[in-house]
Amino acid sequence: MVPFIDIKRFENGFLDEFHSRISEMTKNAQFIGGTEVSDLEKNLCNYTQTKYSISCANGTDAIQLALRAVGVGRGDKVLLPDSTFWATYEAVVNVGGDPYVVDTNLTDLEMDFDLFKEAFESVKPKAVIIVHLYGWGSSRLQEFRDFCKDHKVPLIEDGAQCFGVLYKNEPVYKNALIATTSFYPAKVLGAAGDGGAVFTNDEQLADKTRKLANHGRTSHYGHGLVGWNSRLDSFQALFLNLSLKRIRERLDSRRYWAKKYREVLPSLGVKVISPPSDYEENGYCNVTLFPNLERTKLESKLKEAGIGFANIYPGAMSDQEGSRDTLKGKFSKGNANELSQTVLNFPLFPYMTENEFNEIINTIKSL
Ligand SMILES: Cc1ncc(COP(=O)(O)O)c(C=O)c1O
Repeated sequence: MVPFIDIKRFENGFLDEFHSRISEMTKNAQFIGGTEVSDLEKNLCNYTQTKYSISCANGTDAIQLALRAVGVGRGDKVLLPDSTFWATYEAVVNVGGDPYVVDTNLTDLEMDFDLFKEAFESVKPKAVIIVHLYGWGSSRLQEFRDFCKDHKVPLIEDGAQCFGVLYKNEPVYKNALIATTSFYPAKVLGAAGDGGAVFTNDEQLADKTRKLANHGRTSHYGHGLVGWNSRLDSFQALFLNLSLKRIRERLDSRRYWAKKYREVLPSLGVKVISPPSDYEENGYCNVTLFPNLERTKLESKLKEAGIGFANIYPGAMSDQEGSRDTLKGKFSKGNANELSQTVLNFPLFPYMTENEFNEIINTIKSL
């Protein structure tokens, strides 16, 4: 038995520290805002090397905040990848935007840059979202950034899965115009509930994001913008501050197992995806590709053995029922679809054990 992910493997002393601090905060009714939240935002700035970190209620809100901050509203066209988690798509629709999806590149599994350029010329979008999936990002990230900058179109980077990723030896969020993350418990930096953040070096974008996330407030009862309540609560901020202190150990463990899969699986004939050369991955996810029939057989074996697995993601955005009435356009070579039919993810989480790893490998060998 190996779970796909186990988020209960805390370091010694972690939960004790959390519980004793929670007890203090509860006695002082420190529930919203306060030092835990402001400390977290400072700690996030240090870690991501960005000037501004704005915490918010979840990773979906973070994308919605970023879209609103760059000025996307009703009827504005937005390009985004066809392969991503549904939240990226949903965020565009929720702010009133019109989504246009662009296919995946089957080498790095990120949005295809050449097809994106074609889509850009045809759609003339108000904004673009790229998503750094699986624990790395596009091999052509710099070209995405330069292209959008040259065309004066804001590029939002959905970094829900890339906390801890280095791009050209620096945190990937550092040189984004505006980037977002999720603190969903299963993420690399996970909370004890929902949470998210927006990162930027631009003072105006930071100011607008902060206002939008707090009812558009300019003063306690002054509302300069129509925003909403997307505050991160103090308990989540505490949990995240304590987790951030242990992030190095967690990343080391994730990266160790990600690498181990890459060492062992090819000799069993399994195709494992590697991050492009400019990246140090965070070990968020293991990604393998199988011919469809073989995948089905292996999935049955894994189920029999009680080994968790996933297909991230089993359907492209344009295949979702929810996109039927909302999708405005699709630029595709069929890759997102092919990926959804062939992708298989084996368990990968911090502090996985050697025994667990061997159990997974032996099950694959038995196919
Ligand atoms: C790529 C991507 N974008 C957005 C989100 C949404 O984050 P949340 O679940 O915190 O709203 C997630 C995570 O679930 C994600 O993986």
